[in-house]
Amino acid sequence: MIGRLNHVAIAVPDLEAATARYRDTLGAKVSEPLALPEHGVTTVFVELPNTKIELLHPLGEASPIAKFLERNNDGGIHHLCYEVDDIIAARDKLLEDGARVLGTGEPKIGAHGKPVLFLHPKDFTGTLVEIEQA
Ligand code: CO
Repeated sequence: MIGRLNHVAIAVPDLEAATARYRDTLGAKVSEPLALPEHGVTTVFVELPNTKIELLHPLGEASPIAKFLERNNDGGIHHLCYEVDDIIAARDKLLEDGARVLGTGEPKIGAHGKPVLFLHPKDFTGTLVEIEQA
């Protein structure tokens, strides 16, 4: 079921500084900031040859990233995103095997305009997992 690593998401306290670090120090290609109100984040994508890094910064009052940054002042790895061919089939298999899908269980449209779901970190060795229909 699981396919390519689509991205690694890193929560950052200062989006401009983090973007500059990846662009100017590491020489990576970075996107313009993209506001995703439905997910409570602003993202910048860093394009690497084999995957992407998604820099996440809180947007709005109820951002899921705000709490994470309270516990991790310098920022930190927030989630991994794996590609799947069929998100509904993947969800049903995950539920059948006892994994918890966060939220309503219905896919939302993610940062790349494709359906995504998040899986409970306790079911994936302490790591928040996003699946995206590629
Ligand atoms: Co993501």
